[in-house]
Amino acid sequence: MSFSNFKLYIEEGDTVILYINPHNMHAIEVKSIVLNKNGEEVENVFQTTFGALKVQSLIGKKYGIKVTLSKGWAHVLYPTSELWTLTLPHRTQIIYTPDISMILFELELKPGSVVIEAGTGSGSLTHSLARTVYPDGYVYSFDFHENRVLVAEKEFANHGITNVSIKQRDVCTEGYGEEIEYIADAVFLDLPLPWKAVIHAMKCIKKTGIKY
Ligand SMILES: C[S@@+](CC[C@H](N)C(=O)[O-])C[C@H]1O[C@@H](n2cnc3c(N)ncnc32)[C@H](O)[C@@H]1O
Repeated sequence: MSFSNFKLYIEEGDTVILYINPHNMHAIEVKSIVLNKNGEEVENVFQTTFGALKVQSLIGKKYGIKVTLSKGWAHVLYPTSELWTLTLPHRTQIIYTPDISMILFELELKPGSVVIEAGTGSGSLTHSLARTVYPDGYVYSFDFHENRVLVAEKEFANHGITNVSIKQRDVCTEGYGEEIEYIADAVFLDLPLPWKAVIHAMKCIKKTGIKY
């Protein structure tokens, strides 16, 4: 699947949003079989406050349909950046959609833009950046935390997002790397002591770029 392109039918491996109500929704990876605590393969049954859902039952269904839970019902939605922001596994504080909208607007990002962000964190902003600059643009994302980089990389692969690269790097002390000098339209920093990363960011921005 790809967050960037819509399709009609749910397949094994997709990420779907189980929408119960505006305050109760979940991102689910459609896997028929999962491993239990003892490492044994078991049927994947997702528990909600309105009862259980057999995840395998979603395969072949149309996105948007209503599904029955054991004590209620929900809709199964195609994932968007906004829904992902509301349901993603938090590894850090994240940026939410109202602020993301402002950031995209102020950075004047559009399809084809090249943008650098640090840190990646939980990848909330990164998903929106990737969609905004799609299909010809690119996002260079940096975080100094090894596990956050590995998890985010895996999530982007699972979500079919191909216009993002993530590197483990301390941008305050090491900068962003020679290979991306003077190619960015914009840089966005969401980390402690951002002023220490600004001096390096100056080297990445095109002459026409926007600095943040
Ligand atoms: C608040 S989180 C970013 C959240 C992200 N914007 C989102 O919406 O999910 C800050 C991240 O910056 C990373 N970080 C902090 N200092 C850094 C540095 N000097 N270089 C690279 N990453 C850094 C942290 O590891 C953390 O993951």
